[in-house]
Amino acid sequence: MTTHKLLLLPGDGIGVEISREVERVIAILNGKGGPNSFEVERDLVGGAAIDAHGVAITEEAMAKAKTADAILFGAVGGSKWDDVPYEIRPEAGLLRLRKDFDLFANLRPAICYPALADASSLKRSLVEGLDILILRELTGGTYFGEPKEIVALENGQKRGVDTTIYTTSEIERIVKVACDLARKRSGKVHMAAKWNVMKTGVLWRDVTVATHRNHAPDIELELILADNCAMQLIRDPKQFDLIVTDNLFGDILSDEAAMMTGSLGMLPSASLGAADPQTGRSKALYEPVHGSAPDISGQGLANPIAMIASFAMALRYSCNMAAEADVIETAIAKVLDNGLRTADIMQNGLTKVGTEEMGRAIAAEIETALA
Ligand code: IPM
Ligand code: MG
Repeated sequence: MTTHKLLLLPGDGIGVEISREVERVIAILNGKGGPNSFEVERDLVGGAAIDAHGVAITEEAMAKAKTADAILFGAVGGSKWDDVPYEIRPEAGLLRLRKDFDLFANLRPAICYPALADASSLKRSLVEGLDILILRELTGGTYFGEPKEIVALENGQKRGVDTTIYTTSEIERIVKVACDLARKRSGKVHMAAKWNVMKTGVLWRDVTVATHRNHAPDIELELILADNCAMQLIRDPKQFDLIVTDNLFGDILSDEAAMMTGSLGMLPSASLGAADPQTGRSKALYEPVHGSAPDISGQGLANPIAMIASFAMALRYSCNMAAEADVIETAIAKVLDNGLRTADIMQNGLTKVGTEEMGRAIAAEIETALA
């Protein structure tokens, strides 16, 4: 018997609604008996934590996260907290989890389910069968570089500063992850950076080339300027299999890739740390790529698929339960094939459902598959 400890951090907005649906799926797996079970702890993060405790994540929640085998994260933020100081804003909770646990490797798979090929804003022929992995560096670059400030100038103006910093080892370790993942996929890696303008871009290019030569000469490597990558993703997405890039470009390119799958509501993600040399396990956080969607929150409209698919990633990467992950992913595809759609992926002639109905339908498919 293995008991996997999960920490569920629903957060704000639709994060709360989609987390209920993932709990439904966890309950089904627990109900099945079998050698694996889950123990779920819950806590607040983001605006909800600010309201209750004045900080975006408490030390107690961080302590729970530390002992968890996997963290399941909903979403944070909303206009309610627009006026809280920058240091305590809801997003600070997520950034602290990423930074403190050194979750440097962010896997964002953009897979276009066959049933959704017409829901994309791109033509069916461009997205049908699409299966891209965006690998985003998550603990460096513009997000965390210092100084990061707004200073008042003597002439009455202000100056805003963000700093983009990368070191050799930070780039090397994410490029190694890219090559290892590529070996299990098509064997091809694109690295996107701006070496024509940014010094960090020059370092990304040089370290990537060296890492590739020294550690993974079997992998096909292509360097691409990040702006060209954004354009090529729209022009012909299927030319890509795995794109490795820095924190800021990865944030942007992954939203772009997500839309090709039909909706931002479809994209899961895994944020992994380095493997512990003793146990071989990595600290890990799983979250949907979409945000808290304040415009639809509390109405039961949100698409729970990205959250449920994020749990499937947790099973795969943190719980050694690849078979069950497959079951969940197949259940999602089935429900889509059966014509159920939340508002974000709705198409003419299909059945519009809310968050709970979608969650129940996926749960039912999982039950059937495991029966
Ligand atoms: C993401 C989000 C976050 C980011 C926000 C919520 C801080 O957009 O995970 O892509 O910018 O990294
Ligand atoms: Mg983002």
